[in-house]
Amino acid sequence: MIRLVTVVGARPQFIKAAVVSQEIAKHPDLREIMIHTGQHYDYEMSAVFFKELGLPKPRYRLGVGSKPHGAQTADILAKLEPILLKEKPHGVIIYGDTNSTLAAAMCASKLRIPIAHVEAGLRSWNRDMPEEINRVVADHVSNILFCPTDTAVKNLAAEGIRRGVYNVGDVMLDAALIFANRVNPLPRWNLAAKKYFLITIHRAENTDDISRLRKILELLLELRAPAIFPLHPRVKNLLNQKRGLRTMRLRLEAQPELQLVPPVSYLDMLALEKNARAVITDSGGVQKEAFFLRVPCITLRNETEWVETLANGFNTLVGANRKKFLAALARLDKTQTRIAKRRSGQNLFGGGKACRRIARILRRTLQ
Ligand code: UD1
Ligand code: UDP
Repeated sequence: MIRLVTVVGARPQFIKAAVVSQEIAKHPDLREIMIHTGQHYDYEMSAVFFKELGLPKPRYRLGVGSKPHGAQTADILAKLEPILLKEKPHGVIIYGDTNSTLAAAMCASKLRIPIAHVEAGLRSWNRDMPEEINRVVADHVSNILFCPTDTAVKNLAAEGIRRGVYNVGDVMLDAALIFANRVNPLPRWNLAAKKYFLITIHRAENTDDISRLRKILELLLELRAPAIFPLHPRVKNLLNQKRGLRTMRLRLEAQPELQLVPPVSYLDMLALEKNARAVITDSGGVQKEAFFLRVPCITLRNETEWVETLANGFNTLVGANRKKFLAALARLDKTQTRIAKRRSGQNLFGGGKACRRIARILRRTLQ
């Protein structure tokens, strides 16, 4: 029996782990123990995904909550160590680039437990992002590196990491394909298909600096079209608490066509993405889902790890720049026509077989 410990803590990790867990469960000689760090804890940021996607119930909940980066990472590390010592797994599975990823990577590496990193090799080359630090450290201490794309494999090679590297494809494509036929219909929001924008914002680089966040929110006021904006708690809290942003909140709320709503479930999100005229986001996962679903994406960042999505104008990087944002909006009809003529590009992300490959490789390499 091969014992695996999976460490998750933030929204995108629940979605990724859901589909990998399904595949692990098909192998009778693999046993998975789920640990939830508690980095995300609101119902809409955590429990809803366990319920909707059938994730295994966490055996351990570390309950770390929101804290400054150092304190959060340290708390996870300290609480995880005795559990790993007790469970003695053959491997620890970590996902992506959050503080939960970093803490689990450091903890397992000190205990000499093999680490399998899902979504290894991504780089924005921007060390101002907390995610970039997390993923670089996680990759350098990992033993099995599951890359989603060729670019990720090349990025690792450029840093001297060649052993244990597998291009398995992207587990988020697997998730989008697996759950596509369970997608919820739209009516709850009173939106007409292909006539509205879907907006998400949460990245530290766009929210830590209030003047940048205000600049981005000003862009949204220029849309003058139906739009839905599921608010990440980070942004909701800022809009409620920061003096300079409270008037912005009132201005957003005064826009009759803009719906500010709580975070939505994954199946609702897929429905909103699929039917959107375009997606406006700074999320890594949402950029890719727009690409998988052939919906134009305007990305509120200056760079992306998911460079494949930029081909043929599927995804446009505008940062917080008004001129670039308006130009991308003006081009939307042309972008739509171009996308309709192109193939989906899903093969660049493994074609939906990533989870199967991951489970097989874990079985082969950890026994
Ligand atoms: C984290 C990840 C980011 C990932 C994102 C996915 C880090 C450094 N960042 O960013 O890479 O893209 O998750 O969504 O790990 N909050 C709540 N309720 C919750 C969770 C958070 O109110 O359930 C609020 C708290 O005020 C908290 C803030 O949101 O301080 C930010 O949460 P945090 O987990 O630190 O960062 P995210 O922006 O969610
Ligand atoms: N997501 C969701 N509900 C929302 C917003 C996002 O289910 O209200 C999903 C989205 O479809 C994607 C994942 O969460 O699968 C992306 O997570 P997030 O944007 O929080 O983080 P990132 O991908 O940037 O790390």
